[in-house]
Amino acid sequence: MSDKSDIFKEAELKGVKNIILIASGKGGVGKSTVASSLAIAFSREGYKTGLLDADLYGPSIPILFDIEKERPQVRKEEDKDIMIPVNKYGVKIMSIGFLMSHDDAVIWRGPMASNALNQLLTLTDWGELDYLIVDMPPGTGDINITLAQKLKRAQAIIVITPQKLAISDGLKAANMFLNKNLNISMLGVAENMSYFVPAKHPDEKYYVFGSGGGKQLAERTHTELLAQIPMIQDVCELTDKGQNLFQSENELLIDAFQSFATKIVEKTMKEEKGSMKNE
Ligand SMILES: Nc1ncnc2c1ncn2[C@@H]1O[C@H](COP(=O)(O)OP(=O)(O)OP(=O)(O)O)[C@@H](O)[C@H]1O
Ligand SMILES: [Mg+2]
Repeated sequence: MSDKSDIFKEAELKGVKNIILIASGKGGVGKSTVASSLAIAFSREGYKTGLLDADLYGPSIPILFDIEKERPQVRKEEDKDIMIPVNKYGVKIMSIGFLMSHDDAVIWRGPMASNALNQLLTLTDWGELDYLIVDMPPGTGDINITLAQKLKRAQAIIVITPQKLAISDGLKAANMFLNKNLNISMLGVAENMSYFVPAKHPDEKYYVFGSGGGKQLAERTHTELLAQIPMIQDVCELTDKGQNLFQSENELLIDAFQSFATKIVEKTMKEEKGSMKNE
């Protein structure tokens, strides 16, 4: 019988320049919303972008992109079936949801989950990408650790909501990545639902979930607060219609994601230059 680490082979992802893990210590903070909007923001700026939905507990990228019924095309390479990501809004998308049947409420366990994730990681033809965004499962469990181990060179962004209580969840996720066995660098923190802006009063801000969580988490993990994304009613409405957030007229929202993407580009380009100098 093969060893477990054999089953879950390392992903090579040779043509991918930057791998960015969107993670959180707990569920429901907006990882999938952030991951999908960031991917679209990169693509709008002309970067070759991929989006990998690795959240096997609740893959929501197919819903957010309204591609639930689509399946990746498959081409044979020697004896392997290579999957070609689904393209939408200029983003190459692969989801663990594509490998599950519809309305599958199974909680995947051990080898089955590892196998499906392994297929996604090793048998997807991403081609050349500037950015591969990964929507991680919530929390810091075994699956997250194994995934992060296999995605070598990845950098993590932790999404939290602004209340102080959320900091401890964010720290758990950060500690997982910074653990010396994983050694994944932190790119920064994104604060989601930072403040509420009512549609009829766009100049007003309400700090319904408190404030300061993102800044404190960034300080405590020695990284940067990369974004403060407002909480806006359009998000739910657009999502329910299967539309992306850039289809709203909401400049606040669009600006928040576009400047978030720009910050990431600046940071990753600096690092690329640094590593070229070191070569
Ligand atoms: N900035 C925002 N403004 C308003 N609603 C938002 C915002 N971000 C996320 N939401 C809403 O919050 C809910 C949770 O978001 P999302 O599914 O992206 O979180 P998640 O962290 O991926 O959750 P899970 O851990 O279950 O995968 C969704 O209904 C989404 O539409
Ligand atoms: Mg999600």
